[in-house]
Amino acid sequence: MKMALTGTPGTGKTAAGAELATRGYTVESFDELAADCVVDFDRERNCKVVDVDAVDRRFRKRHDQVIVEGHLSHLLSVDFAVILRCHPDVLRERLKAKGWPEAKIRENVAAEALDVITVQAVERHGEERVAEVDTTHLSAQQTAEEIVKIAQRGFLSGGAGWVDWSDWVMDHAGQI
Ligand SMILES: Nc1ncnc2c1ncn2[C@@H]1O[C@H](COP(=O)(O)OP(=O)(O)OP(=O)(O)O)[C@@H](O)[C@H]1O
Ligand SMILES: [Mg+2]
Repeated sequence: MKMALTGTPGTGKTAAGAELATRGYTVESFDELAADCVVDFDRERNCKVVDVDAVDRRFRKRHDQVIVEGHLSHLLSVDFAVILRCHPDVLRERLKAKGWPEAKIRENVAAEALDVITVQAVERHGEERVAEVDTTHLSAQQTAEEIVKIAQRGFLSGGAGWVDWSDWVMDHAGQI
């Protein structure tokens, strides 16, 4: 079973992945898998541009049990994707604490509010292969426990239901 642990930056993928590793799961970061597939640098966004298809061509040949964590991991040929979610106001605080510039915070808070990664993951894998975990009120350990529960259920029909930030979106419509 190959699983993507994905979500908007700041939702806690790396922190939850580290917890899962202590529980015996093999966790690899998408960035490591993609290290030799960087094709460009996006100056505006200050990030590397990766040839995801090239990463996936190699990933598809693997048949081991692995969790890949990273906000592009759901674009790989995984059997299942778990998406970490976080209330936009709390996500803003987490990204601020990481020292991110305001423009990047806004971009990512909006992406979270509008379910961008969930839409991509469902498009790529289908609803029945995607689960969401709302981490807003969870520690990284509790988040990892939720992921383990989903795995133990055999990854069938998702996690704790779909996350919905539409009330927040209605209140902040002018700022997105
Ligand atoms: N469940 C949680 N509850 C509260 N804070 C958390 C939780 N998980 C992570 N954090 C904190 O939020 C910040 C972002 O976490 P982390 O770096 O794991 O996110 P990420 O999803 O891997 O982000 P990126 O996509 O930028 O790598 C960190 O400061 C981390 O300590
Ligand atoms: Mg990370």
